Amino acid sequence: MLACASCHGMQGKGTNNDYFPRLAGKPSGYLYNQLIAFRDGRRRYPPMNYLLEFQPDAYLQAMANYFAAQRPPLPPPETPIVSQDILALGQSLVTHGDPARDVPACSSCHGASFTGMEPAIPGLLGLRPSYISAQLGAWRYGTRTAAAPDCMQIVAGHLTETDVTAVAAWLSTLPSPANPTPAPRGSLPMPLACGSEPN
Ligand code: HEC
Ligand code: HEC
Repeated sequence: MLACASCHGMQGKGTNNDYFPRLAGKPSGYLYNQLIAFRDGRRRYPPMNYLLEFQPDAYLQAMANYFAAQRPPLPPPETPIVSQDILALGQSLVTHGDPARDVPACSSCHGASFTGMEPAIPGLLGLRPSYISAQLGAWRYGTRTAAAPDCMQIVAGHLTETDVTAVAAWLSTLPSPANPTPAPRGSLPMPLACGSEPN
């Protein structure tokens, strides 16, 4: 796990680098799916693709279990660098969606306190805006894919560039919830089916 700490921080808590994501406390099924996706090239970041090449499934599962079990404190919320109007748009999309544009509320799958849901929906806390924007962009442009139906590709496809900036900015300002544990399996409404989230 030390090979991972240089970029993901001790216990996967994240670092000051804008683009290196926190891993701690995300559901192990989610982390495992990502490690498989990097190994098999469905998700691209050359240092991670290289590091995981030829690693057996059981080893990836063990790493996923380790990081899922860690609970280091979340970093302090970011100070938003966007206007109040953009922040308000972000809050409204994340918490209510925009039915007229087929955008579901992010909270309907990621949880009202954004801690994710077992077994395979990640929390969205402790991530920087540049990382969140890059992931949504990767889905829109097809360089990040998950098992079909890839619900995030559908959701991201309905967002404009401004929406992406707004949701990324608002999510990064959220304080730590009292309970950082992912919601139990099946406890959230999930308005779309996700292939990565077996029922
Ligand atoms: C050189 C820096 C670097 C190293 C070393 C590294 N990672 Fe990563 N990792 C990243 C970056 C950057 C991303 C985001 C890539 C992207 O999607 O664009 C990432 C993404 C991930 C993700 C997906 C996170 C999410 O929330 O979707 C997992 C899981 C992960 N890494 C696990 C590991 C593990 C386990 C190790 C050690 C074996 C490791 N990483 C080593 C930089 C690194
Ligand atoms: C229908 C359920 C659903 C909805 C609605 C949804 N998501 Fe997701 N989201 C998922 C799933 C499932 C994943 C994991 C995909 C994978 O395995 O790569 C995910 C992953 C993500 C990630 C990657 C996190 C990381 O650590 O790399 C981001 C960012 C994200 N969602 C943001 C959003 C935003 C913003 C919205 C609202 C505009 C949203 N999601 C709405 C199901 C959903």
